[in-house]
Amino acid sequence: MTKTVLLDKDADLSILKTKTIGVIGFGSQGHAHALNLRDSGMNVIIGLHPQSKSIDIAKKHGLEVLTNSEVVKRADIIFLATPDLVIPEIYADQILPNLTPGKILGFAHGFVIHYKLVVPPPEVDVILVAPKGPGHLVRREYIQGRGVPALIAAYQNRSGKARDVALAWAKGIGSTRVGVIETTFKEETETDLFGEQAVLCGGLTSLITAGFETLVNSGYAPEMAYFECVHEMKLIVDLIYESGISGMRFSISETAKWGDVSVGPKVIDEHVKENMRKVLENIQNGTFAKEWIEEVKSGKQRYRKLLAQGAEHQIEKVGAEIRALFPWLKQKNLQGVQAAYD
Ligand SMILES: NC(=O)c1ccc[n+]([C@@H]2O[C@H](COP(=O)([O-])OP(=O)(O)OC[C@H]3O[C@@H](n4cnc5c(N)ncnc54)[C@H](OP(=O)(O)O)[C@@H]3O)[C@@H](O)[C@H]2O)c1
Ligand SMILES: [Mg+2]
Repeated sequence: MTKTVLLDKDADLSILKTKTIGVIGFGSQGHAHALNLRDSGMNVIIGLHPQSKSIDIAKKHGLEVLTNSEVVKRADIIFLATPDLVIPEIYADQILPNLTPGKILGFAHGFVIHYKLVVPPPEVDVILVAPKGPGHLVRREYIQGRGVPALIAAYQNRSGKARDVALAWAKGIGSTRVGVIETTFKEETETDLFGEQAVLCGGLTSLITAGFETLVNSGYAPEMAYFECVHEMKLIVDLIYESGISGMRFSISETAKWGDVSVGPKVIDEHVKENMRKVLENIQNGTFAKEWIEEVKSGKQRYRKLLAQGAEHQIEKVGAEIRALFPWLKQKNLQGVQAAYD
C-alpha cells in the first residue's frame, strides 16, 4: 500500500467530546454525520434554513435545530453538508459574519475550497471528512456496527490539531472501523469528480443504457435487455466488490471469461480512455466546475431536462415492472431523506 490506512486505534474521540459540533444541512451526508456523531456521544446541533423540509426530520431524531447563524455562533466545528453550490452563499451570509478565530470549518467534499468559491480566513482550521459512499450507507453501516471508508484532509491547520479533529470525526461516523486515508482537498476533489463522471455514475449509466438500447434496437425484448444490462450488473459488481475482478471471473463461465477479456477492451477502447483523459483535464483546469456553476446560476434548466429525459427512458418503465417481481427489493426514494432512513 502506498497510503497508510488509519483505523480505530489511530484516532482519539476525546478531542471532539469537549466541542460543540454544528452540522449545516440534514440531507444524505448531513443526517449520517450528525446522527452517527450524536450516537458516538458528541454534542451535535443542526443548522437549517427556515423553510427547510429537513427541520421536522432532524427534530424527530431528537436533535436541536437552529438557524445557520446561530449554529456558527455556538459551534466549535461547523460542518457544511448542504449541496456544494449552496455553500458559497451560506458562507458569505451566515458563516463569515459569525466566524471567530479558532473555529473549525469542515467539508464532506473539497469542491468549494479547491475551486476557491470559499476562501476562509487564516485564523480558522479547514478540514475534510469525505466518506467514500452515499450518506444513507454511512448511517446504515454505522448502525450495523460497521462503517464506510473515508478520506480526511487538512487545508488550514491553524490550531495544529486539524488532522486529529478530522480523524476523530471519521471515527465518530464509523469510518475508522473500516479504514481512513489521508489526502488533500485537491486530490479528493479531482478524483471524486472523475470517479462519479467517468466510472461510477456517468460511465456506468451510459454503459448500461447503451447496452440496453443496442439490444432493444436490434429487436430483442426490453425485459431481456433489462435482465442482461441492469439486473445482472449488481450480481457481477457484488462479486467484484467481494473478491476483485479476478475473483469475479472465478464465478463466471469460461465462455463469459473469454468474452470478458477478449471483447471488453474493444468496447471500452482507446477512444473511451481518450474521452476519460479529457474529462480529467476539464476537472483539473476548472472547466467542469465553471460550467456547473454557470448551470446553477442560470436556473439548472439543462440539468433538470437531462434528468427528466433519463427518467422517461424505456429502461425505467421496464425496470419498474421487473423490480415489482422481486418483493424483497424495497423500492426506496433516495431523494427523500425521510423515506430513506425512517
Ligand atoms: N450524497 C452523498 O452521499 C455524498 C457523498 C460524499 C460527499 N458528499 C458531499 O456532501 C455534501 C452534502 O451533499 P448531500 O448530497 O448530502 O446533500 P443533500 O442530500 O442534497 O442535502 C442537502 C441538505 O442541505 C439543506 N440545505 C439546503 N439549503 C440550505 C441552507 N441554505 N441552509 C441550511 N441547509 C440547507 C437541505 O435542506 P432542504 O432540502 O430542506 O432544503 C438538505 O437537508 C456536499 O458537499 C457533497 O458533495 C455527498
Ligand atoms: Mg462526489
